[in-house]
Amino acid sequence: MKIIATESYYQMSRMAANIISAQVIMKPNCVLGLATGSTPIGTYEQLIRWYEKGDLDFSQVTTINLDEYKGLSPENDQSYRYFMNTNFFDSININKERTHVPDGLEADSAKACSDYNKIITDCGGIDLQLLGLGLNGHIGFNEPGAAFEKETHCVDLSESTIRANSRFFTSMDEVPKQAYTMGIKTIMQAKKIVIVVNGANKAQIVKDAFFGPITPKVPASVLQLHNDVTLVGDKESLSLIQDHLQ
Ligand code: F6R
Repeated sequence: MKIIATESYYQMSRMAANIISAQVIMKPNCVLGLATGSTPIGTYEQLIRWYEKGDLDFSQVTTINLDEYKGLSPENDQSYRYFMNTNFFDSININKERTHVPDGLEADSAKACSDYNKIITDCGGIDLQLLGLGLNGHIGFNEPGAAFEKETHCVDLSESTIRANSRFFTSMDEVPKQAYTMGIKTIMQAKKIVIVVNGANKAQIVKDAFFGPITPKVPASVLQLHNDVTLVGDKESLSLIQDHLQ
């Protein structure tokens, strides 16, 4: 694994955006796997800036997002489709028909997941997958205990996640109880993986995930088995793995 240590969230974002830019420049019709969450927002902002300067062209790029809440429409401002449109897609020249997020409105979970697996297969697999890291080591919605061999599947959200999400909704009933997520098998099939982390609260999980045992208890630990992973972190998030940095 390659580790890129940066000074700040801004520098982490620029570095991740640089790697993604290189991918888009080298292969204009590449397939990018994308993530939501707070960590990659700065990366998307940087990519938008370079697009606006005329340095990047997304017109042939395909994107595949990691996950979506089951039951939320693309217009719902808590949906991951809405997040991607507002934080990235609406500001670049990507063809929206080539941007994929699991269909939150598909009530038939088996169909939603097999449709999504087909999309991934039909576009020839993911060239570069961008990931964030959950505080408990989750990647996508693959929580501790998730099987390593799964493709896209439906997960039941934990009580604590449902409770935490309830602040964004007017009533508890509206809070999604399930989500569709790309599985670890699919993530591991990406040719290249870039994982972005920032903040002192991620320092322990960075150490556990990348220098601890490979175990489903820490889903991101499986990334130790991938042959092209780049971890891009700010100094706070990498503070407990100083010995491993050159
Ligand atoms: C996002 C996703 C999640 C986040 C993770 C980290 O699509 O699948 O696994 O990457 O929860 O979130 P942040 O970046 O908000 O700390």
